[in-house]
Amino acid sequence: MTIQWFPGHMTRARRQIQEQLKLIDAVIELVDARLPLSSRNPMIDEILGDKPRLIILNKADLADAEVTREWLAYFKREGHVAFPVDASTGTGMKEIPTQLKLLMKAKIDKQISKGMNPRAIRALIVGIPNVGKSTLINKLAGRAVALTGDRPGVTKGQQWIKVSKEMELLDTPGILWPKFEDMNVGYRLAVTGAIKAETLNTEDVAFFGIKYLAKYYWTPFKERFDLQCDQPSDFENPDEIIAIMEEVGRRRGCIISGGRVDLEKACGTLLRELRAGKLGRFSMEAPY
Ligand code: G4P
Repeated sequence: MTIQWFPGHMTRARRQIQEQLKLIDAVIELVDARLPLSSRNPMIDEILGDKPRLIILNKADLADAEVTREWLAYFKREGHVAFPVDASTGTGMKEIPTQLKLLMKAKIDKQISKGMNPRAIRALIVGIPNVGKSTLINKLAGRAVALTGDRPGVTKGQQWIKVSKEMELLDTPGILWPKFEDMNVGYRLAVTGAIKAETLNTEDVAFFGIKYLAKYYWTPFKERFDLQCDQPSDFENPDEIIAIMEEVGRRRGCIISGGRVDLEKACGTLLRELRAGKLGRFSMEAPY
């Protein structure tokens, strides 16, 4: 099973973002705090070049706080300014204008020294679909903003969203597609709901999720589904993972004729609960 990834999408997105870059001072790159690398297009550095950039680990409310701290250290080592945000409540968002101003300080100081009145910093939000770009923009703007869709010829008719005296956003977020050369990247994205599980195979996605949860988040997993089995002794043994999957199904009443477990239904239920944060906070990858 391979996931379709269309180079045409990427070429168009790249061209669009490069046009947008000409209009702005800085980029706000959104990644999913639960999977900061897998939720990033690997060509992002090349596409954005040396444009000043903030990296926001969004949905930090759903991620494992300890792992998020490790990611922040990772991005710092990579020379980036990165911080966690929960765009749905606005937690952490005060940092955005503060950090943007710091990022643009040299330019602002230069304008002031020339006797100019520094204009608002113009920023572009970029990220993969579902990472929270619209939520963040609405929160920053303090209202529901009608965003311009993903369409070609972007520079025509673009509007600025005034966030404050000091900050404006382009009304078309830059959409970058994730890249699935590595199947695990696809699975991580599907477990967290960044892409539809059906894009792959729901059972394969749930299998991947269970293996990961059983390894790194066994206690909350066991408690949520009241599992009676032990933590698998061999995570690579499919029988042990399927046994857990069946137990999840039994606990949620996913039974078909003959008392067998409806695995597809069980997998769907598990993924829904996981994504809704019912198993608590978790991260799908760590920087080591
Ligand atoms: P996009 O523009 O990048 O495509 O993403 P969008 O803002 O539409 O957000 C995708 C989903 O992620 C939305 O949920 C949104 O509420 C949720 N979301 C965004 N930021 C955060 C966050 O920081 N924390 C949490 N927990 N969720 C976040 P949805 O189920 O698609 O829609 P809805 O429930 O908001 O109606």
